Amino acid sequence: MKLPDLVILDEKDKRLRETSKEVIFPLSQEDKAHIHDMIDYLTMSQIPEYSEKYSLRPGMGLAYIQTGIPKRIFVIVEELDEGEFKNYIVINPKIISHSEEMIYVGEGEGCLSVNREVEGIVPRYARITVEAYDELGNKYQIRVREDISVAFQHEIDHLNGILFVDKIDPKNPYKNRSKYREI
Ligand code: NI
Repeated sequence: MKLPDLVILDEKDKRLRETSKEVIFPLSQEDKAHIHDMIDYLTMSQIPEYSEKYSLRPGMGLAYIQTGIPKRIFVIVEELDEGEFKNYIVINPKIISHSEEMIYVGEGEGCLSVNREVEGIVPRYARITVEAYDELGNKYQIRVREDISVAFQHEIDHLNGILFVDKIDPKNPYKNRSKYREI
């Protein structure tokens, strides 16, 4: 595999604070190629051979704005089994329902734009149903849970200019921890 030529913005970059714009279909060839570059990048970051070779931090999600383009698109690459991946291409997403139950990632969330250790918890819905479009412009609904639900909410925040670190109070990073379930 060849590493796609992607530049991922760092959290200090103000573009990450923009609200991304709704996508109008059909997608250009350039957008389709960019989406697949993002998927390839994430996939390679999760394969030790490549993450070592190219010094990639493993990541499962990436929003368009993290590459400097303010469009409401994100991708997620989930490793199902060793070397076996499932891709999600999510365009113009809307959360249409969510569980009452909330969870947080015990080891902390990570973000390819946040290049430092951040302590603390980010409460997220345990399950959400999202309405979105695929790259051909077909509308679909998807119900996601646990870590994929967290990843979707993390990426939807990016589309609204929000980083996970914004949701942690540095003075009390584990606030209300007992109210949520750790995953
Ligand atoms: Ni992120």
